[in-house]
Amino acid sequence: MNLTFQALQKSDQPAIIQFIHEIQQNQLPGFDWSSEKLNSEFSVAQCFVLKKVESCSAFASVRVLPSAFELTCLAVDPKARGQGFGKILLGHLIDFARNNADSHRREFWLEVHRENGLAYDLYSECGFQIVGRRPNYYGKGQEALLMSLPLK
Ligand SMILES: CC(C)(COP(=O)(O)OP(=O)(O)OC[C@H]1O[C@@H](n2cnc3c(N)ncnc32)[C@H](O)[C@@H]1OP(=O)(O)O)[C@@H](O)C(=O)NCCC(=O)NCCS
Repeated sequence: MNLTFQALQKSDQPAIIQFIHEIQQNQLPGFDWSSEKLNSEFSVAQCFVLKKVESCSAFASVRVLPSAFELTCLAVDPKARGQGFGKILLGHLIDFARNNADSHRREFWLEVHRENGLAYDLYSECGFQIVGRRPNYYGKGQEALLMSLPLK
């Protein structure tokens, strides 16, 4: 299929901002990535891009925290959904976290809106389990599920 994983390049950013904006416009619960927030994430997180030939099909950002890795964003270009890219990129992120885990960083965390069933199913299928709930995290009545994958 000619897929490559790359660290985010400056030249990839407009395409990523564009498809994340498209996802945002569809008002996916708990998915709140303005251009400003995304630009800030580009500068502080480890950012990964999955490309099919030359085009950016999926993006993810991972924060390397003192005690864990945290997945802050995972998004597939709406035009490229349902082809396995989300699952492939998540597998790559898990490998990244496993390869960089140490005695302090032994978990991979993420938060997902309770109503984002597609993302929740993908995370569960890849081994993440619910370890907590944050009521009203995304707004009144909008619960976040805190999920974790042990790395060691
Ligand atoms: C969630 C998301 C990353 C999944 O990416 P994707 O590339 O479309 O998903 P994949 O093709 O890798 O499929 C993953 C699983 O979901 C299932 N799936 C994908 N699209 C589906 C659909 N429209 N309906 C039902 N199941 C679907 C697949 O069957 C697959 O399961 P399987 O491996 O058992 O067959 C993508 O939908 C997305 O970007 N959503 C918007 C942003 C988001 O919600 N991010 C996560 C929260 S921050």
